[in-house]
Amino acid sequence: MIFHQCGGLKGQITVPGDKSISHRSVMFGSIASKTTEIHNFLQGADCLSTISCFRRMGVEIENRGDIVTVHGRGLRGLSQPSDILDCGNSGTTTRLISGILAGQDFSVTLTGDESIQKRPMKRIMEPLSQMGARIRSINHNGCAPLAINGGPLHGIHYPSPVASAQVKSAILLAGLYADGETRVTEPYLSRNHTELMLSHFGADVHTENTTAVILPARELYGQKILVPGDISSAAFFLAAGLILPNSEILVRNVGINPTRNGFLRACQAMGAQLSLLGIDKSSGEPTADILVKTSSLHGTTISGAIIPTLIDELPILAAMACFAEGTTVIKDAAELKVKESNRIDIMVRNLGAMGADVEETDDGMIIHGGRPLHGAVIDSRLDHRIAMTFAIAGCGAEGETEILGAECVNISYPSFYEDLKRLLGS
Ligand code: S3P
Repeated sequence: MIFHQCGGLKGQITVPGDKSISHRSVMFGSIASKTTEIHNFLQGADCLSTISCFRRMGVEIENRGDIVTVHGRGLRGLSQPSDILDCGNSGTTTRLISGILAGQDFSVTLTGDESIQKRPMKRIMEPLSQMGARIRSINHNGCAPLAINGGPLHGIHYPSPVASAQVKSAILLAGLYADGETRVTEPYLSRNHTELMLSHFGADVHTENTTAVILPARELYGQKILVPGDISSAAFFLAAGLILPNSEILVRNVGINPTRNGFLRACQAMGAQLSLLGIDKSSGEPTADILVKTSSLHGTTISGAIIPTLIDELPILAAMACFAEGTTVIKDAAELKVKESNRIDIMVRNLGAMGADVEETDDGMIIHGGRPLHGAVIDSRLDHRIAMTFAIAGCGAEGETEILGAECVNISYPSFYEDLKRLLGS
């Protein structure tokens, strides 16, 4: 896929449904009673992996594109799959499903693609083992494939060393099956979709500062879910609208949950002309239409509690920082190293190849902005967010940018390139 320097982005766009919420809708719907109807479900490869795993455990799921209907089997109604469960490229599927499997009375083997087989799973193996599950890494390397023997679980209080919604959610889901209260304390609050959604499904769950608390459940109840647009997908167009000249775009119906909206706060700290219109707080997941115009950006420091709220947007923020005056420091973001790829390494290499002044640090990077970027050949390492980041950077760079492995955007945003072309008027 080739990109050239372009003029502005104009118009309106509705981005696909939120990936985190789409996964959870299928998972929670599968272990609830009755049916769960999901509107605006993200038809990306990751969420389709979740559907396929639950179908293999006996859940009937109708996928008609715009609406997905899950015929729930109840908390104890899943059946043992006849084969290994394949989680594809999806960390969310692998880690959250492990929490559910820990409480079943059957054993399962889970795996995924090459990237999944390199991602750390000890972070869920440890707490789930403390709760009583037998879970082991088949290759003894702390990664998938994982063999999980579910069984009776006890509640624990787990101080998580990382602010990770996937870790927190795996423990909370296992907590549904435990014999008492389960608590997870995080260093900073990570996205809280699991807490909000499980509460809608009827679980007894609440939050005390950075601690999530859940009680064992007798039953969850199917729900109708309207998935908001994914702020992590919207971020690419918002960034393009801010850095490309003569831009003005409106991204409609974007989820702005405070545990996910750090990207908007970081943009504002960089001097972005960004406004939220039509804020709707009528459901647990607030939404808004977001308007951006080309802006003169300046550097900022992104660190601490904001990091989990924009963790997936750090690649595009790093690219934006190249178009800003002054220095941007990203720190406390070592988690970037264990995403779909090592996103610190790949960002520093690829931005460097485009002529940016960027340094790698132990837990982030430092970008000295204001140097024009030039085109380069970009290896996406099959990481969807890296491919989309460099499509946008390529639109702002002189010359030609070629993205290798560009098709990996199908993980979270299958129509990304068509939508970008439409907004560019090409
Ligand atoms: C997600 C949590 C985050 C995020 C991922 C989706 C989720 O991962 O990076 O894309 O849906 O819970 P961590 O929990 O590992 O930080």
